Amino acid sequence: MSSIFGKLFTVSTWGESHGEAIGAVVDGCPAGLEISEEYIQIFLDRRRPGQSALTTQRKEGDAVKILSGVFEGKTTGTPISLIIKNTDQHSADYEQIKDWYRPGHADEVYDSKYGFRDYRGGGRSSARETATRVAAGSIARKFLNEKCGTEFTAIVCGEIETAIETARKNNDSIGGIINLTIKNPPKNLGEPVFDRTEALLAMAMMSIPATKGFEIGEGFNAAKMLGSEHNKLGENHAGGVYGGITSGEDIFCRIAFKPTPSISKPQRAKNKNGEIGEISIKGRHDPCVALRAPVIVESMAALVLMDLWLCQSK
Ligand SMILES: Cc1cc2nc3c(=O)[nH]c(=O)nc-3n(C[C@H](O)[C@H](O)[C@H](O)COP(=O)(O)O)c2cc1C
Repeated sequence: MSSIFGKLFTVSTWGESHGEAIGAVVDGCPAGLEISEEYIQIFLDRRRPGQSALTTQRKEGDAVKILSGVFEGKTTGTPISLIIKNTDQHSADYEQIKDWYRPGHADEVYDSKYGFRDYRGGGRSSARETATRVAAGSIARKFLNEKCGTEFTAIVCGEIETAIETARKNNDSIGGIINLTIKNPPKNLGEPVFDRTEALLAMAMMSIPATKGFEIGEGFNAAKMLGSEHNKLGENHAGGVYGGITSGEDIFCRIAFKPTPSISKPQRAKNKNGEIGEISIKGRHDPCVALRAPVIVESMAALVLMDLWLCQSK
């Protein structure tokens, strides 16, 4: 399996949805950066469920503990180990459907690939793991902010509250689009030809569960533009990246999330024996996962730029 992200600023994440804890080991962070559990917690609280009536009512505490790599409030340059205990799991919700492959989930492909899987809450395929990315990303964004004034801001596109309410009433779910803006990104980041900044950003975003699309700058709209429009000086239609290298202009991206696969509306599904039946997914699910994703998107972007910054400055 692939659980390590980055080349110089590496983040190794571990843990499953219904295991005892999840966590990350961050290696390559320069010494002397002020970091505290309280600081990391600000970002974890943005991802935490139960923040609004429109997200899942699961009550994941998501309290982070720093186990290593920080002394007297500052990073020491050694591996930073972060742990978040899992609380409020309802494993029984999954027991009844353990032999059924939940539509839209990784259940069937995990079984097919590994021959064995943790069926509780999706195990490793669960987006619970993204809490560890947020914790690690908070370190990267602080470093970049102090060094270069870089700011990461992601928001859910459009007014989707009513659509979410309607979907929820119908025991269904909806998708959503997130707009990411990176202000003051460091200049000259990106390593042609394979580690282009936009390629790494796309890879990072598409590694977030439930993502189905990525655009940078004008994205798909660029295909409909004239060269004379797209090239216009000062209009930044490229989204701040040329030939894979950052120009120092703001970076704009859009990320599409699919509708939450777990819905209580009855759906046709397959089981381990290949039989087809109807299942209704119990449990407390997000009617729109995009609502909780902005901070995850910001964190992945920070991890990409931090890694490239170290490559550029070495
Ligand atoms: C922040 C976040 C929260 C999520 N919460 C849920 C959830 O409550 N229920 C669910 O079925 N899927 C949820 N998902 C999506 C699934 O994890 C994902 O669709 C599934 O693991 C299959 O992966 P794939 O969609 O990338 O193919 C969430 C995703 C994110 C990013």
